[in-house]
Amino acid sequence: MTRLSGITPSGEAHLGNYLGAVSRWAAHSRPDDLYFVSNMHAMTIDHDPERLRDLTDHQLAVLVAAGVPGDRLFVQSDLIREHMALAWLLECTCTFGEASRMIQFKEKSRGSASVRLGLLTYPVLMAADILLHGTAQVPVGEDQSQHVELARTLARRFNTDYGEVFVVPEAVLPEAGARVRDLSDPSRKMSKSSSEAHGIVFVLDEPEVIRRKFARAVTDGRDEVRYDAVEQPGVANLLDILAVCRGTTAEEAARGIGGYRDLKEAVGTAVIDTLGPVRERALALLEDRFELTRIRQEGAERARERSERRLTEAIALAGLA
Ligand code: TYM
Repeated sequence: MTRLSGITPSGEAHLGNYLGAVSRWAAHSRPDDLYFVSNMHAMTIDHDPERLRDLTDHQLAVLVAAGVPGDRLFVQSDLIREHMALAWLLECTCTFGEASRMIQFKEKSRGSASVRLGLLTYPVLMAADILLHGTAQVPVGEDQSQHVELARTLARRFNTDYGEVFVVPEAVLPEAGARVRDLSDPSRKMSKSSSEAHGIVFVLDEPEVIRRKFARAVTDGRDEVRYDAVEQPGVANLLDILAVCRGTTAEEAARGIGGYRDLKEAVGTAVIDTLGPVRERALALLEDRFELTRIRQEGAERARERSERRLTEAIALAGLA
């Protein structure tokens, strides 16, 4: 019952990544699980190679610092041949219509004169990531559920057309924190690619920066602390964040908070308490890369060993061997 999930180093890890995904990987991981830095996915839009290298280390450090056991981690490009080989088999299983219907493709390609082909095919690479390792469950935030659905479709189709080889995976969404919103615009999810830096809380932000970002968070003119995601999306987002940090429901989190100032203060403090220890451990790991290098090398070997048989079988079933 392998669980697998990934994080893309297209920017620094933020609170949405942490609450929606990474903290759950750390809290519920089992010895068979795999978590990885999906650095090959960070090339679908303009990227700087040097920065990508740094951000890959950064994400790996955040995963270790968040408590994901080192022996369940790897970096995707360390298995670039395996992931690409399966991605090709699956590209030839997926239709153009299916790939172009992906919401993230539509959003990220809109208004852009030149769209990289990888932006269209990246959900197929993601399906390869999932299927290569025999994944049964994929713990992700809500924004990735359509991609996991595509992986299910491709697994079923390949199994039917060529022979049973892939486990059909399912997405596992968190009960709370599945969609943390941008603090400066609660109609949008918090995202690495957002241009409004003060709406995003980064895992490595200093405590004072976090407090300031929450103090500036967009709410509304009512000064009424109650949970109503439709009428008061900004307040609901703050209550959601507070609730996940405290391990309560949003309604419980709202109790006893008089106004927006108190709410912002409370959620800022809760987030600082949650991220503080992760930040310290991550910075220490980035200071001394020996541990990260070791984790990366050992992780690559383990992941490659585990995927070998399945990939060989899929290649043969497709008639390539
Ligand atoms: P990425 O790097 O965008 O996000 C990593 C994880 O964080 C979750 N997430 C959020 N959760 C709640 N609120 C938010 N605002 C928020 N923003 C992001 C995402 O849902 C995700 O779980 N393509 C993937 C990485 C990937 C992958 C995979 C995941 C590559 N291959 C195979 C699972 C299985 C991505 O770019 O995630």
